[in-house]
Amino acid sequence: MINRRDLFTDALGGGALAGLCFGSRAAGAPEQGPQRAFRFAHFGDTHVGHTAFSLSSEGYPKALKHVHAIKDAPDFILHTGDIITDAFWAKRESATAQWKAWRKVMEEHCTLPVRYTLGNHDVNFGWDRGDDTTKFPGKSLALENTGLTSPYYSFDHKGWHFIVLDNTQPGGWNGFQILLDEAQVAWLEKDLKRTPEKMPVIIASHAPIVCVACFFEPLSKKHPDGMVISNDCVHQDVVRIQSIFGKHPNIKLCLSGHYHQVDHCRYLGVDYICGGAVCADYWRRPLQYRPEFEAGYGVVDLFTDGTFEYRFIDYGLVGYEDDPKRPRHPWGKI
Ligand SMILES: [Fe+2]
Ligand SMILES: [Fe+2]
Repeated sequence: MINRRDLFTDALGGGALAGLCFGSRAAGAPEQGPQRAFRFAHFGDTHVGHTAFSLSSEGYPKALKHVHAIKDAPDFILHTGDIITDAFWAKRESATAQWKAWRKVMEEHCTLPVRYTLGNHDVNFGWDRGDDTTKFPGKSLALENTGLTSPYYSFDHKGWHFIVLDNTQPGGWNGFQILLDEAQVAWLEKDLKRTPEKMPVIIASHAPIVCVACFFEPLSKKHPDGMVISNDCVHQDVVRIQSIFGKHPNIKLCLSGHYHQVDHCRYLGVDYICGGAVCADYWRRPLQYRPEFEAGYGVVDLFTDGTFEYRFIDYGLVGYEDDPKRPRHPWGKI
């Protein structure tokens, strides 16, 4: 039997999977307690595909090599969105090329199954203010390139139920806002009702449902009215979602990305983890956006009693000296 202490030392050529650790297991929980059901990796915000971010061509394969080297291998990668650099503000040619580049790197470097969540940068080019004459709202390009038939879905794996939400919706000052549309809310309620009461549930979304990182988002701090958390950052319908969660105590953990920061909080029995970014600061070096958060990904161990352990792993992205000729924030120009 594998005990908890071994989970992170039996990895990467004998080295430890060192990193920030969060979990719902009580401190000092007995080593001979409930067994681990399985392990998966949590990737967030890879932002791969556009050649302006040249570090991604070295860095992303490095992240994939790192996760595939874990001896006690994860069963799959759960990606919580912002898969490609940006389609939202890009032209059609750029968006198509980015998805093509994504597929190529995955074909060459990834053998683990991947469960995708869509992020705001994955939705169709020119959704809001792109200058492509063929701009249209929707997620068809992302669905086509991830192999999904719906932007929200659920699945079971070894005794745990996973719900993947799609929280990028039209509206808001920035061209999108974070909430669930009515059809998705009805689907979520139905999906939770038909899940056995004893089956632990994990919910994945791109932007967090509840988080700490939102208080440190530069857009929040810059608002003329003071600290206003932007509607492109947190769920506008969080109270409604929480009221649904309150009927299902088997919801254990919500995973997200979007902020490129790592945080963990617990509210009314549900743990919320924002899992950082594989790309850190959009592959820029040195880090500018939130320099406290290095590139990394999560390794999540789930136990048969509905508890979990989450470890954020710095996979060792090595940058180069900052080049002043490298582009800065090219959103809207690619
Ligand atoms: Fe992102
Ligand atoms: Fe995002």
